[in-house]
Amino acid sequence: MTRTALSLFTSGGLGDLAVRQAGFDILVSNEVLEDRHALFKFNFPSTFAITGDIWRQAGRIEAETLQRLSGKALTLLYATPPCQGMSKNGRGKLLSAIRAGRKPVHDERNRLIVPTIELARRLQPEILLLENVPEMADTLVLDEHDKPVRILEYVAERLGPDYAGGAEVVEFADYGVPQCRQRLITIYSRNQHIKDWLSSCGSLTPQPTHAAEGRDGAKPWVSVRDAIAHFPPLDAKSPETAASEIPFHRVPLLDAMKYWWVENTPPERSAFDNQCAACGFAQNPTHSSVRDSSGINRASRMTPLHCQQCGKMLPRPSVERNGKRQLMHGYTSAYKRMSYDKPASALTRNLSYACSDNKIHPEQNRVLSLHEAFHIHSLDQYDYAWRRTDGRKVSDKTIREIIGESVPPAGMQALVDHLVGILEGTKLHFEAVGPLFSLSNRAA
Ligand SMILES: C[S@@+](CC[C@H](N)C(=O)[O-])C[C@H]1O[C@@H](n2cnc3c(N)ncnc32)[C@H](O)[C@@H]1O
Repeated sequence: MTRTALSLFTSGGLGDLAVRQAGFDILVSNEVLEDRHALFKFNFPSTFAITGDIWRQAGRIEAETLQRLSGKALTLLYATPPCQGMSKNGRGKLLSAIRAGRKPVHDERNRLIVPTIELARRLQPEILLLENVPEMADTLVLDEHDKPVRILEYVAERLGPDYAGGAEVVEFADYGVPQCRQRLITIYSRNQHIKDWLSSCGSLTPQPTHAAEGRDGAKPWVSVRDAIAHFPPLDAKSPETAASEIPFHRVPLLDAMKYWWVENTPPERSAFDNQCAACGFAQNPTHSSVRDSSGINRASRMTPLHCQQCGKMLPRPSVERNGKRQLMHGYTSAYKRMSYDKPASALTRNLSYACSDNKIHPEQNRVLSLHEAFHIHSLDQYDYAWRRTDGRKVSDKTIREIIGESVPPAGMQALVDHLVGILEGTKLHFEAVGPLFSLSNRAA
């Protein structure tokens, strides 16, 4: 059976790698940013790619999809609308902006669900698969009558009674990806096999294959060590040590001061907690944060920058203010070494910045190379080239943005393969029901 798909908010197509691998013919794709879509076009040459704003392109997306379906049903509508308006990354900043009246309570980006569901209503896919941040479950949007509604209620109501489904929070490390990344997976279907499965099993996501400590028959989570320890070491001190012959296995240099903070940072700690490099005194107070009167977490201003025993400057992040060296504003998740023995925390577009959260290599004095990020994002398991059809160079910034806004394809693979198994009747019910799945994480 030919399985067909429409991909919305495609970016560079990392999630689409899983959809293609599961046997789908991705007929049409839409993405607004040309520099991201150019990568998709190179890697998915047989898909009809429409670059542009979904609000303006919806008619064309529908027409091109219908033309390619030639009367057949669309199997999957795969949509991953942007999540910055809902993401908890930067929520502190967003909250302050809303409170200061600088940001509308209803972020326009959240309304992208409206044209998405309109396309689903017109194309009637057998399966609608949405991927977003867990915060989506509580996000309000303005519907087509400008009335505020919870996104998930809006989806269910607009799809109508032919569709059954719901939303579940999924941890991608639970499917063998060396990265903790939680996503809200919303699946609705009008296919009878899938609806029957949902009513008997209560879930459309597969039983996790991995767990934190390895329990209930699941394997232990795949760690950063498993994923990257075998690559040649790098060091951010000099151009010679910061690069290697492996493509993308290179890191940005750190200036002498930053390098000093990083080289004094023990495993799994932040440079904000570093102790004295001069006299070895190890009892200087460490960094902390407190909630202010408006409920926003603020880093402590009391953390010392100078050793309480010898008075020398501690190797802690600092800046020059009014001619005086002072502790940098930041939390203990900044300038922090990741753990070798756990999955990495979610890769973000800031993955090459030591000052961002949990970005320092577990043992070496540097951030991760892009090559290592590809492995932590499971891209090594797929055929994907960071190339464009016009041959222009793809910047590191674009690569980081695409990774930061996507899900690891191997995690998405587990979900899509599971749905295909149910759709085609090759899955057995007992495979899906297990102690690790709880109805309490069902959001709709
Ligand atoms: C979460 S990312 C998608 C990730 C992607 N599925 C992947 O696997 O890499 C959301 C994408 O939606 C795109 N986007 C944002 N607004 C859009 C619009 N109005 N029309 C079409 N695409 C849009 C963004 O540029 C971004 O690349």
